[in-house]
Amino acid sequence: MTAMQHGRLAGKVALVTGGMGGIGHAVSRLFVAEGARVVVADIQKSTEVASLETLDANQVFSELDVRRPDSWASAIQLSRDRFGAPPTILVHCAGVMVIGDLMSSTEEDFRKAFDINVLGTFHAIQSVVPGMREAGSGSIVVLSSATGALTGTAGLAAYAASKAGNAAVTTTAALEFGHDGIRANTIAPGGVDTPMSRAGAAVDLTNFFAPMPIPRIGEPDDIARAALYLASDESSWVTGTVFTIDGGLTAGIH
Ligand SMILES: NC(=O)c1ccc[n+]([C@@H]2O[C@H](COP(=O)([O-])OP(=O)(O)OC[C@H]3O[C@@H](n4cnc5c(N)ncnc54)[C@H](O)[C@@H]3O)[C@@H](O)[C@H]2O)c1
Repeated sequence: MTAMQHGRLAGKVALVTGGMGGIGHAVSRLFVAEGARVVVADIQKSTEVASLETLDANQVFSELDVRRPDSWASAIQLSRDRFGAPPTILVHCAGVMVIGDLMSSTEEDFRKAFDINVLGTFHAIQSVVPGMREAGSGSIVVLSSATGALTGTAGLAAYAASKAGNAAVTTTAALEFGHDGIRANTIAPGGVDTPMSRAGAAVDLTNFFAPMPIPRIGEPDDIARAALYLASDESSWVTGTVFTIDGGLTAGIH
C-alpha cells in the first residue's frame, strides 16, 4: 500500500517511540490517518492497547530499548529500508513511571528513571538529528509531564526529576538545532487514561479530577492531536515550547 497523498502529514516519515503504549499508539494511529508512514518503536511487542496485528501497512514495528544506541540505529535503518528515508518526525513517548517519595526512594529508583526517561531522550535526539539534517528539516516532540516539567509531585520524586530532565534536553535541542531547520517541543500532559496511569496512580484518583476546570481524565487522543500539530508544518514557527495539556490541572490554585 502506498502512502496517502493527502493529510496534514502527507509524505512524511515519523518515528514514534513507546508506540505500543497508550499515548504512542494514539499518536501513530492519528499520524497514519494524516498521511504519514510510521516506525512504531517499543520495548514491548504487545500491550493491552496494541499488538503487531493492529499495525497498518503504513506502520512498521521496531523493537527498541531507548537505553541502547544500537537499537536506535536499527530503528532508523528500518525507516530507510521500508520507507526510503530517515524519520523527519520523532514523537518520543517511551518512558516509565517510578513511584516513591523522597524518603523512600532509592538510588536505584533514580537511576532507572534517569536511564530511561532522560538518557533515553538524549539517545533519541542524537539518533534522529543526522537524518533530519540530511533532509534539511525535522520536528522533535518529546513527552514530558506536568509532573516535573511544570511542578513537583509528592510521591513521584524520581519520576518528576526525570521529567524535568527530559524537558530540559528537548529545549536544549531547540536551541542547538534550530539553524538546521529542526524544531523541538515538549508536551506536558496531566493525567491521561493509559496503562501507565492505571498501574501507577500515586494518588487516589477518586477526587483528583473533580476540582479541575475541565474535570475529567485526559484521553490519549487529547495528546495525539497536540503531537500532530507540533509534528506538522502548521507549527513551523513553534520551537522550544512546553505545551501543557492537562485540563487546567496546573493553571493555578483550585
Ligand atoms: N499517562 C499519563 O497520565 C501521563 C502523564 C504525563 C506524561 N506521560 C508520559 O507520556 C509518555 C507515554 O506514556 P503512556 O501513558 O502512554 O504510558 P504507557 O505505559 O502506556 O506507554 C509507555 C510505553 O513506553 C514503553 N517503554 C518503556 N520502557 C521502554 C524502553 N526502555 N525502551 C522502549 N520503550 C519503552 C513501554 O513498553 C510502553 O509501551 C511517557 O513518557 C509518560 O511519562 C503520561
